[in-house]
Amino acid sequence: MVKFWREPKQSVINILVISDAADFSARLAASARKDQFNIVAQSWRLQKAPAPQGSAPADAVVWDIRSATDLERAEAIMRAEAIVTALRASELAPLVIVSPVFSGAELRKLIAMRAADWLDSSSSADSILAACARAVSRAREHGTHLKAAQQCCVGFVPIKGGAGATTLAIETAYMLAKRESGSPRAACLVNVDFTYGVCADYLSIEPGLQVLEVAAKPERIDADLVEAMVSRHSTGFAVLEGHIPPGQQMNLPAEVVQRLLDTVASRFAGLVLDIPRAWTPWLSNVVKGLDRLCLVSDASVVGVLAAKRAIEYFRPMCEAETQLHVVINKHRGGLLSDQPTAKAMMGLFPDHKATVLPWDPSLMERAALLGNPLGALKKKNAFSSAVLELAGTLISPRGAGR
Ligand SMILES: Nc1ncnc2c1ncn2[C@@H]1O[C@H](COP(=O)(O)OP(=O)(O)OP(=O)(O)O)[C@@H](O)[C@H]1O
Ligand SMILES: [Mg+2]
Repeated sequence: MVKFWREPKQSVINILVISDAADFSARLAASARKDQFNIVAQSWRLQKAPAPQGSAPADAVVWDIRSATDLERAEAIMRAEAIVTALRASELAPLVIVSPVFSGAELRKLIAMRAADWLDSSSSADSILAACARAVSRAREHGTHLKAAQQCCVGFVPIKGGAGATTLAIETAYMLAKRESGSPRAACLVNVDFTYGVCADYLSIEPGLQVLEVAAKPERIDADLVEAMVSRHSTGFAVLEGHIPPGQQMNLPAEVVQRLLDTVASRFAGLVLDIPRAWTPWLSNVVKGLDRLCLVSDASVVGVLAAKRAIEYFRPMCEAETQLHVVINKHRGGLLSDQPTAKAMMGLFPDHKATVLPWDPSLMERAALLGNPLGALKKKNAFSSAVLELAGTLISPRGAGR
């Protein structure tokens, strides 16, 4: 179900040139080495956005607005996002602007629409092409870097209330972001509990997903909307969470959730899903999109029995390649404990990867107080190390950690 990051092509650089001047793209084409650049020209009119290109996907877009009047330029910049979004084949394609010197306000807008470079009107064809090559190389490096991070989608389900699923989902998102040095596209934690989600509360951030608004107009769900509705934790990962107040209960259509998750997956290299215990039919589809599913229970007799039963429920729901992981949390070991040892607990799940985590509220409370994942705390102990090790396993390349 979930589509992942598309790796950009590495060969000839396809440049889409948007310009009203017939000689502009011809000048670029004349300077371009055929084995390095492929120039596709597209004229544009302010009155009418150009039709999307059907041909080779653009690796970079050069937008020439040299000849526009001040008024036209202001309008072009206002509509730039829509026009370029319609033309850009891939979100990774950087935008290079060629224009007279901008005012501060115009410049701000260009930065907001993430223009990769700007050259003034007198720039030579060679310098424009060089700017494109640089921008594409940067975009490719970034894309490949994230690709190397092994895109992954991990889901956490609490098998018993309060077992620690949300806690582990947060740590996993943190680890994904940390692995990519806090890259803003590295990880998104999505709470698919659209009523009682508490990820944002744990992290002391404001949830931004307007669930009712999105459900009313699902056709509006796109990358920009997701970008506008995710919240950011200071350590780098994004959080998508929203609440339908219980008084306004409605059944969220499966298509809305799917479109939302697909869009998030196309923006982020790693997805972590906090899945509620209360089941909704579309959650079965969500589970099918996972690389790893983590069933989180506690170390009580009831918790262990529930975890064993959950495996029977979830295994048939998962795709064959989905790795199932059992976590028995809040284990009280030691001489005075009447719970079996951690080793004995793991032995109860001989056919699955199982992890037993100790009961240890001390660091958890400090983390909640600071609105931070355990991983971001300076202080560490055996519990936080075990949690981070587990999160590291869950984001390791597929095939490992089964
Ligand atoms: N190993 C642990 N030792 C002590 N406290 C823990 C441990 N793991 C989690 N907690 C605490 O348990 C509480 C519940 O954790 P969490 O919200 O992650 O559970 P959950 O499985 O997501 O619950 P829910 O069923 O509500 O979704 C939190 O206060 C959390 O800090
Ligand atoms: Mg939870």
